[in-house]
Amino acid sequence: MSKVVETFDRWAEEGRDAELEREHSDVARQVIAAMQLRPGERVLDLGCGNGWATRLIAQASPGVQAIGVDAAPKMIARAEALHSLTIRARYELGTFEKLDFKDGHFDRVFSMEALYYATDLAQAIRECFRVLKPGGSVETLVDYYAESTASEPWAGVMGLALQRLSESGWKRAFEQAGFVAVTTVRVIDSRGPGAAHDFRADECEPTHAAKRALHAAGTLRVRAEKAQ
Ligand SMILES: C[S@@+](CC[C@H](N)C(=O)[O-])C[C@H]1O[C@@H](n2cnc3c(N)ncnc32)[C@H](O)[C@@H]1O
Repeated sequence: MSKVVETFDRWAEEGRDAELEREHSDVARQVIAAMQLRPGERVLDLGCGNGWATRLIAQASPGVQAIGVDAAPKMIARAEALHSLTIRARYELGTFEKLDFKDGHFDRVFSMEALYYATDLAQAIRECFRVLKPGGSVETLVDYYAESTASEPWAGVMGLALQRLSESGWKRAFEQAGFVAVTTVRVIDSRGPGAAHDFRADECEPTHAAKRALHAAGTLRVRAEKAQ
């Protein structure tokens, strides 16, 4: 866990939180629109990074209250620095495995590219279940999953113990925590993979071919409900 925090604190210091926003914003916007948030709903953004998605969620419907949680203090500091007082969002330091909220506190849980960093994924999913109201739902988005073969090197290059599940493995993990109506679908970034001449390599996308393969596989969206 401390290695995950060190990594994302460093990314925040290097300004890579803004890159995450650029990379993930199209898919997140598609999913937040599909969530059809209702006025006044309370929404948890798990692994919020600099809080850009938390703020989008807060503006998706009147009176939505969005709370972002992240284990990296420097990501939370970025979220607070980027915060606008006109947006009903807040950000808290915390871990997926032990959420500091009472049972049934949230109507929805959203998580963008974060859950596979969990040290104990089963416990993290049980915590999502616990903090949701009956009838609530969770939306998990991940680019790192078994069928996306171009993501396979990530654990090695980042030096982190990432949870590599298949599409059916993700479905099973949510069912085992008690969720019902668990569905999976791939979401494709509508902007495309980008042109080769604009491409900038990093450890997760070392070549334009890798970026094209990641784009073609898409982001895995896992949606699950807590029964009424
Ligand atoms: C790849 S970043 C994604 C951030 C944000 N959702 C985005 O799309 O920009 C993953 C985030 O999850 C957080 N994280 C990873 N494991 C965590 C855990 N067990 N508990 C809380 N936060 C965690 C990291 O600190 C990091 O900010």
